Amino acid sequence: MYVLITGGAGFIGSHLADALLERRHTVVAVDNLSLGREANLAHLNNHPRFRFQRLDLLDGLQLQRLFAAERFDAVFHLAANSDIARSHHDPDVDRDNTFATTYAVLRAMKEQGTRQIVFASTSAIYGELHGPLSEDAGPLQPVSHYGAAKLASEAFISSFAANYDLRAWIVRFPNVVGSRATHGVIHDFITKLQRNPDVLDVLGDGRQNKPYLHVRDLVAAILLVWEKAGDRLNVFNVGVESRTSVQRIAEMVIEEMGLAASIRYSGGTRGWIGDVPEFHYRLNRVHALGWRARLSSDEAVRLAIREILDSKRRDAGPEHEKREAA
Ligand SMILES: NC(=O)c1ccc[n+]([C@@H]2O[C@H](COP(=O)([O-])OP(=O)(O)OC[C@H]3O[C@@H](n4cnc5c(N)ncnc54)[C@H](O)[C@@H]3O)[C@@H](O)[C@H]2O)c1
Repeated sequence: MYVLITGGAGFIGSHLADALLERRHTVVAVDNLSLGREANLAHLNNHPRFRFQRLDLLDGLQLQRLFAAERFDAVFHLAANSDIARSHHDPDVDRDNTFATTYAVLRAMKEQGTRQIVFASTSAIYGELHGPLSEDAGPLQPVSHYGAAKLASEAFISSFAANYDLRAWIVRFPNVVGSRATHGVIHDFITKLQRNPDVLDVLGDGRQNKPYLHVRDLVAAILLVWEKAGDRLNVFNVGVESRTSVQRIAEMVIEEMGLAASIRYSGGTRGWIGDVPEFHYRLNRVHALGWRARLSSDEAVRLAIREILDSKRRDAGPEHEKREAA
């Protein structure tokens, strides 16, 4: 199939591009590079079935041109603001990059007759509901602007599917970890420890406890849901049953970096306003399709730390390796 990935230069989008190409699809990735990096796609530069275009989805003219010229079979809509804490100070960021991008994509699909959308949704739509959370849990009262913008996106995907004969797959991700991360707890801890190897400042009390899914497991689940779920509107939680505390992540990062840093907690039960300190999915629906995460939450975190550290060492080049060896 001929597919578009929005947010294709981001963390998850770039892994999804790899997996779609492996399955013989032809892929166009677009991204405005506000958070993503072209380096995430550098390995695909000469791939005959891949093209990257820098594009802001909120540029209506460019978007219409792209859809009119390319005639996609399906859109994987991943572009969004992934910096949840930032939108507490500036909610427009989520109105624009998380919600308005979805609306713009749906409009372009309607105009040009693209029939399939796969949407990157999130546990944040459930707000502070206690788990295990099934896909039908409610009432849905998000506590972050990000969660609100994703929920509004889901609502418009549902109404566009009903009005214009689209098919939609809404996949609600948990916390996702792995190489090429542009943000997130592991990325933040590593960056902080590179600045100060003696003390790691952690937001909250360290007891926030959530499921972490490795990006390769996530991408396999997205593709399986897309290939196998046959309703007009398909909604799936995707995740892993085990969970990892923030304290455990901090300890693992310190260990993998070979440091003896002490951990200093800012206090309070959550990392930032809008953070949901605990959640837990019910996963029967996706398990019934034949998918299960290969890695537990702890295993995913450990592997992601190693992958991110390896890629940082590679980026730093041979000089850094010589210094480390010395
Ligand atoms: N990483 C996670 O833990 C997680 C969890 C739940 C849901 N999600 C969702 O998965 C998707 C991918 O997340 P990610 O972790 O790869 O984040 P990411 O920030 O790496 O990727 C999002 C990409 O969207 C791009 N983008 C933002 N606004 C845009 C615009 N107006 N036009 C074009 N491009 C734009 C950014 O530059 C970025 O590359 C997002 O929709 C995110 O909300 C991620």
